[in-house]
Amino acid sequence: MGYGKRIDTLCSLLTESKTFADVGCDHGYCSEYMLKNGLCEKAILSDISKGSLQKAETLLWEYVASGRAVAVLGDGFYGVPSDTEQVLIAGMGGSEMVSILSDKTYGFMPLRFVLQPMHDAEKLRRYLLENGGYIERDFTFQDGKFYDVICGGREDKTHTTPAYSEAEYEFGRENLQTMPKAFVARTEKQLKNAIGYLAFPDLQAESRAELETRKKKLEGVLNGAIK
Ligand SMILES: C[S@@+](CC[C@H](N)C(=O)[O-])C[C@H]1O[C@@H](n2cnc3c(N)ncnc32)[C@H](O)[C@@H]1O
Repeated sequence: MGYGKRIDTLCSLLTESKTFADVGCDHGYCSEYMLKNGLCEKAILSDISKGSLQKAETLLWEYVASGRAVAVLGDGFYGVPSDTEQVLIAGMGGSEMVSILSDKTYGFMPLRFVLQPMHDAEKLRRYLLENGGYIERDFTFQDGKFYDVICGGREDKTHTTPAYSEAEYEFGRENLQTMPKAFVARTEKQLKNAIGYLAFPDLQAESRAELETRKKKLEGVLNGAIK
């Protein structure tokens, strides 16, 4: 694929689908991957920023000209039909993604989704599982920084997710079950930070107690006691 590890990881999680929407597409690389490889018949390129959308339109002008790609300037799922087979939202906050999915006018639970929140992954997991979504993949990877990615879709009889534990909401089910290298590295870094802060002699009692709790939780994740 050659787009860089983060985009390549996202592309590797995208599946063949008649219709595909890249919400917050910016450069449009994931749509290019879908269109060039014949993985979708039609792609919607959508972005709230005119300048960002123009990047995708420039990259994919031949597809736009032929009608296989449609560029939509708008917020969230504006212009994205609720029967779109697969939706990608990557590179924005988990809370922003929840706002898009839950929007009263345009929001819906996509038939299949690949979501890569920059933060607030816990809030996103909760929203998905409490609002008719199922989660199929949920893991951390590293491309310089650490990233979470959550794939799944609209829940039905054959696609359901057994209830998540509190720790799974916070850390991601696949991370706790299989401990990917990137997840272990991020957790070790978080633990090191907590230990570093605890070394400050002037910490207020409340902050110290919170850090001790955090330290114990991270140790529990790393030694497999917390699932
Ligand atoms: C950091 S870029 C990520 C681009 C690409 N998806 C990626 O992962 O590399 C975030 C993009 O999302 C767009 N964006 C932010 N909020 C949005 C919203 N509510 N609806 C549509 N696009 C949005 C921004 O304009 C920007 O182009």
